Amino acid sequence: MNTEIFNVFVTSSQTPPSAWNYVVSALYIVAFGMFIYGLMGLTGPKTAVRGNWIAGIGMVLAIAATILNVPVRNGQLGGPEGSGVSTPTINWVLIAVGLLVGVVLGIPPARRTKMTAMPQLVALFNGVGGGTVALIAWAEFIETDGFQHFRDTPAGPVVAGSLIAAIIGSISFWGSLVAFAKLQELLNKNLERNLVKAAKAFQLANIVLLLVSIAIAIYLAINAANGGGANTWWIVGLLVAAGIMGLFVVFPIGGADMPVVISLLNALTGLSAAAAGIALNNTAMIVAGMIVGASGSILTNLMAKAMNRSIPAIVFGAFGGGDDGAGPAGGAEGGTVKSTSASDAAIQMAYANQVIVVPGYGLAVAQAQHAVKEMAGLLEDKGVEVKYAIHPVAGRMPGHMNVLLAEADVPYDAMKEMDDINGEFNRTDVAIVIGANDVTNPAARNDPSSPIHGMPILNVDEARSTIVLKRSMSSGYAGIENPLFFADATSMLFGDAKGSVDSIVEELKAL
Ligand code: TAP
Repeated sequence: MNTEIFNVFVTSSQTPPSAWNYVVSALYIVAFGMFIYGLMGLTGPKTAVRGNWIAGIGMVLAIAATILNVPVRNGQLGGPEGSGVSTPTINWVLIAVGLLVGVVLGIPPARRTKMTAMPQLVALFNGVGGGTVALIAWAEFIETDGFQHFRDTPAGPVVAGSLIAAIIGSISFWGSLVAFAKLQELLNKNLERNLVKAAKAFQLANIVLLLVSIAIAIYLAINAANGGGANTWWIVGLLVAAGIMGLFVVFPIGGADMPVVISLLNALTGLSAAAAGIALNNTAMIVAGMIVGASGSILTNLMAKAMNRSIPAIVFGAFGGGDDGAGPAGGAEGGTVKSTSASDAAIQMAYANQVIVVPGYGLAVAQAQHAVKEMAGLLEDKGVEVKYAIHPVAGRMPGHMNVLLAEADVPYDAMKEMDDINGEFNRTDVAIVIGANDVTNPAARNDPSSPIHGMPILNVDEARSTIVLKRSMSSGYAGIENPLFFADATSMLFGDAKGSVDSIVEELKAL
């Protein structure tokens, strides 16, 4: 067997490894396999829960291997001894306290948070990851006495890994906290508006802050090459500069761009964890970090593409959500609105050949998915073809609508992606928009001055008639008015989506 491969995982020493080295390596390899297999499960709602469990068990194995690796690296279980000046020890109390804090703070919100609030929870958990990585980098700086004394990991990876982890981890932590605060609407609107203005004026300073962080990192690397021992304030300065940059980059971003930003921050946290893994010579962190970094980057790209936005345009040119460019919220300035009743809506749909259901965030808030499935069943019994049009950023997280509808047993082949269904609206008798707004806004296509101009939308306005179910004329997430609601072919059925669909169901049964 080629033991060199295993040596890379467990020790840099030339002495032959002990059997325990192989146990640690084997545990890590099984854990990585489980991360990747688990992630594959997350590609579909049917396998997602199992995938999550598999990846979770993989993480337990990786933690066990990391703890076991301490006596193994110290030579306490045979094999080579660590050659550094300080020997790592296991502090069981700290580990237990850390686990307890993680469990107490992590499990209740993960269980209780509604699906509609998932993006802010993801932002918060992601921020915690980035913050941890930044702290690891700082701890590594202190532990090595300012990159002077290294244990059994070569100086190069410790210095480079720690510095990269400190910069990216700090950006990700502070950026994620801002994303959380904005999504959770924790900020007073006036304060947010002023902070957004300040952050926009700060755009150039962000480049300066990035250059400052990089300059400090280069100074610390040169200092380490010359024997190390730089003052701790240098790394604190680096963390602060990167942190302020994280705050000010995310502040002005809002509205429809937020999902892309969260995914980008997620990718950054993954990359910073991989860098910290290099510094700690911990393969589990490198692999898990790279998986998060790669999958986060792919998701960011896909979402930016779905929104027809480039990532630099998102990071450097905000729109929506507290942005000055956002239109009136809740205004009814666009013209006359026609309202309709549940019985008229039922009659219109019952005599249609094809009905397209357009679900959005309001469907999730109202939990109307089961009622919608029942409505579709009744229409199908009357010979109407029913399809569902799924916009990639409808709702508040990727795949939100698919998950909701799957929960109500809507068949997967009835759920049509935006590109597949858009050509069908002009041949459709009725499009019923249930709690969707931004993803149907024709201004994105027709109005170059609109803050969401260029974002692909569902072509609901091309249907022969459109019924919109929502409670009021309030704007959607991007905070802008929707001309669809004022169109001749559109009628509004005001009320909670579940109540409205239930009423339509009753009317359909009575027909
Ligand atoms: P939105 O544009 O946010 O519109 C949702 C509409 O639902 C609102 O206008 C609201 O109007 C209505 N509504 C809320 N509760 C309701 C209820 N109980 N019954 C009936 N209607 C209700 O949603 P969308 O069209 O799904 O677009 C998604 C937006 O969120 C996009 O701007 C997207 O960029 C952003 N976003 C997406 C994600 C992901 S990854 N999907 C993550 C974060 C943000 P009323 O108040 O008048 O009822």
